[in-house]
Amino acid sequence: MSAHNPVLLNEMIDWLAPKDNGVYVDGTFGAGGYSRAILNAADCRVFAIDRDPSTKVFAEKLEAEFPGRFVWLLGNFSDMCSLLELHGVEAVDGIVLDLGVSSMQLDQAERGFSFKNDGPLDMRMAGDGSNAADVINNASEEELADIFHYYGEEKAARKIAAAVVKARSEAPIMRTKQLADIIRGVLGGQHGKTDPATRSFQGLRIYVNREFESLETGLKAAEDLLAPGGRLVVVSFHSLEDRIVKRFTHSRCGKIGESSRHTPQQLMASHTSMGGEAPRFFLPKPEKRTAHDAELDMNPRARSAVMRMMMASEKV
Ligand SMILES: C[S@@+](CC[C@H](N)C(=O)[O-])C[C@H]1O[C@@H](n2cnc3c(N)ncnc32)[C@H](O)[C@@H]1O
Repeated sequence: MSAHNPVLLNEMIDWLAPKDNGVYVDGTFGAGGYSRAILNAADCRVFAIDRDPSTKVFAEKLEAEFPGRFVWLLGNFSDMCSLLELHGVEAVDGIVLDLGVSSMQLDQAERGFSFKNDGPLDMRMAGDGSNAADVINNASEEELADIFHYYGEEKAARKIAAAVVKARSEAPIMRTKQLADIIRGVLGGQHGKTDPATRSFQGLRIYVNREFESLETGLKAAEDLLAPGGRLVVVSFHSLEDRIVKRFTHSRCGKIGESSRHTPQQLMASHTSMGGEAPRFFLPKPEKRTAHDAELDMNPRARSAVMRMMMASEKV
């Protein structure tokens, strides 16, 4: 997740195994740590996508360093097929997604993601559409509770939503600190290492950026774009994201019925795209990887990172 210290970098390269003349997609370019590692690993081409225009400065460095081998595309990775089609690319050898926000986005107070540093309540990665202040000041109490509950897994979602609605009736909530203080007022001061505002801020960010919709569409697009033998790597940072990725990889690799304890086997089978055919993808063993102790010591953000992989069959 850290822009300058990308998480699970060695594990990503190990599984992606870039090859000379290969074509790769980095769907979450950020500061370009993953793209750079792929370009260094083989004489290949990388198409890098990011929805945040501010990542362009990092792209310019890579364009200069790897002439003719690197292309940066502004957009959502859910549109990767059409973005690459514009460059005449219809199939690729590997795709990486390092989900969520970058440490640069988190650390810049004016982007409005942080409850630690006060800033405008924005949270938009792409800088367009409704921002977090629009949602906080206009959504109904029930909608707010759902956002905190479903996307933030916040147990006190209803109480926090009620406190937000009460506070905004007195004055609009426009700053991250205002919102964080309202949440802290409901949940009490900091307990342990986690700030009480963490889960609600996560929920709001996911909602504002439609992150789960992008992920579901992006995974399907990746499936369409991978050439035979192509490899997919997805790094996620919380259990909700990882659950979406796990369900997807399991369903595409024919490992159905284990993804959800609550979903009947038949329903899971009907959710797969395989229609009784042999699966077109394989899961490696192990099917997921997490950070080693050495990385955890250097980068605490790696604690919650989970990398999942799958590979397209060599036969079409
Ligand atoms: C965790 S950072 C990636 C860090 C990157 N691997 C590196 O080495 O610097 C995530 C990046 O993905 C971008 N992003 C998140 N969701 C996206 C989406 N749906 N489409 C395109 N970019 C997205 C964010 O703007 C952010 O720059």
